[in-house]
Amino acid sequence: QPQPEEPTMSKEEKNAIVDAAVAAAKPFSYEDVMVTPATRDDFGDYQCNAAMGLAKAVGMNPRECATKIVERLRPDIQDIMEEPEIAGPGFINLRFKQEYLAAAARAMAQDAQGKLAIPPTSNQKKIVVDYSSPNIAKEMHVGHLRSTIIGDTLCNLLDFCGHDVVRLNHVGDWGTQFGMLVEHLRDEYPAALNKETSQDVDLGDLVMLYKAAKKRFDEDEDFKTRAREGVVKLQAGNAEEIAAWESLCAASRVEYQKIYDVLNIKGLEERGESFYNPLLSGVVEDLEKQELAVESNGAKVVYLEGYEARDGSPLPILVQKSDGGFNYATTDLAAIRQRTTIAASEGGEEADRVLYVTDSGQAQHFDMVFQAARKASFIPDSVSLEHVPFGLVQGEDGKKFATRSGDTVKLKDLLNEAVRIAGDDLKSRNEDSSDAAFAERIDRVATIVGIAAVKYADLSMNRESNYRFSYERMLSLNGNTAPYMLYAYARICGIIRKASGQEGSDGDFEWPEASDVIISHDTELELIRNLVKLPDLINDVEQSLYPHKLCEYLFQTSQKFNQFYGACSVNNADTPELKASRLTLCTATAGTIRLILNLLGIQTVERL
Ligand code: ARG
Repeated sequence: QPQPEEPTMSKEEKNAIVDAAVAAAKPFSYEDVMVTPATRDDFGDYQCNAAMGLAKAVGMNPRECATKIVERLRPDIQDIMEEPEIAGPGFINLRFKQEYLAAAARAMAQDAQGKLAIPPTSNQKKIVVDYSSPNIAKEMHVGHLRSTIIGDTLCNLLDFCGHDVVRLNHVGDWGTQFGMLVEHLRDEYPAALNKETSQDVDLGDLVMLYKAAKKRFDEDEDFKTRAREGVVKLQAGNAEEIAAWESLCAASRVEYQKIYDVLNIKGLEERGESFYNPLLSGVVEDLEKQELAVESNGAKVVYLEGYEARDGSPLPILVQKSDGGFNYATTDLAAIRQRTTIAASEGGEEADRVLYVTDSGQAQHFDMVFQAARKASFIPDSVSLEHVPFGLVQGEDGKKFATRSGDTVKLKDLLNEAVRIAGDDLKSRNEDSSDAAFAERIDRVATIVGIAAVKYADLSMNRESNYRFSYERMLSLNGNTAPYMLYAYARICGIIRKASGQEGSDGDFEWPEASDVIISHDTELELIRNLVKLPDLINDVEQSLYPHKLCEYLFQTSQKFNQFYGACSVNNADTPELKASRLTLCTATAGTIRLILNLLGIQTVERL
């Protein structure tokens, strides 16, 4: 038996380190890396691998060190955990006691209409989430749809955690393109340039309008000159140009609001690029004062570490063009300051964390802007700026997502199509009825299922990978899809309805009281062990910002439920106590499914 090396540390010092490890292990939350959910179900519920890393430092062998950690840990956890098990070289496996699991499941059921007994965060932050952000007079495309769906989910989740969340729509409503649009309106819709009449002008299809203006800009030199002058007048706040610009913004807003209504997106506050316009020259002045912005070919640029153009020359960010106009990056720099350092009373947010949900193509832009903001000390060090990138939406063939004729797909058509297919499917599986109430119900449910399918298909993929859009897959009743989860939820409601003798029309569904939970079968145990991991999951996504983890967990939960329901009868349970216990598990499971679907922006129905 090799003796451990003679430790050079005092006993007190050693104990202090082990204490620290134990302290780190205490809250059993995902935040501390010391204690993590078990990698395999049969290892228990959590594991602590600290002994391996610590052993050398304290001059013990890892198993000995693990024993020490367990000794310290025991009094703190003995109420909820079985005696810790030391495995292999020094892994500590932790397993919940069944009494604890039973009590936790009951608590979840009791709060199934609320927060499932999950306490709010003890570390409340102000979090700005910048998402959706379509561009005025341009097509709102599938990329914006992804940003909207992912951003909404992250906001819902952070809000659920107890953070103070501000949802900002960084609409592209400013820039040189407005020169040509305004001049085009001057010729085609002169009433739009008059403040009195501009509200009543119907600009028709804005994408067509944009294309027509662009065509003139590219082909007609005089028009080009007028467009350039138009931008200057707009930026100077000239009444005609402002009226025309406002009418364009208003018309666009009507269009994207329609999409938000169908998607049930709420609380998103419009804070377009134009809002930051008055702050841009100040940003550039500050950068110049700090000698961060320098001149390059008449433009003003900021050089940063680690960026090179293709030819190997240093790649800067542009903050002011040679004609004096400002860039996309300048606006983002102004926005960063506004969102992190300006008090709410002054129109800012003083956020601790700012998230930007855009396609991964903008990763470099954000990286550079964040670096510039730090270099210029525009933000406190403690503030976290995070780009939340996502991949492309592709067609089923992996190519560009387009209609059969090659045109871009209109978002409204896309959503309508999903709802139509969901409706056809519902009609085919429900007894036909000429009842008006029936038709109304099918329509309502089809809308829920169709929109849910689009959202879920997007959210269930790792956001960083490209995802192939397929109506067939997203509307499938099998697999990790919205219809599958919605049916799983409705089925549990059906079980409860039957058990408690409810007739149950929509809307008056009654949840049973939570009862004592009796663990009588392995499948019950496994279902509960899965349910109690919900807080860890929420903590994980709060940091990692990966919504697909919510979907994975949902799918797992429904599978564990199916195994339980396949093996254990609820309505014909042997005793009334067992029946009540199993109904409590049904309630906790249904509550978990509904909570997560709601976080994903998906409504549930008790009957499908
Ligand atoms: N409007 C931009 C686009 O359509 C997205 C804006 C993202 N937010 C930001 N702060 N830059 O690509």
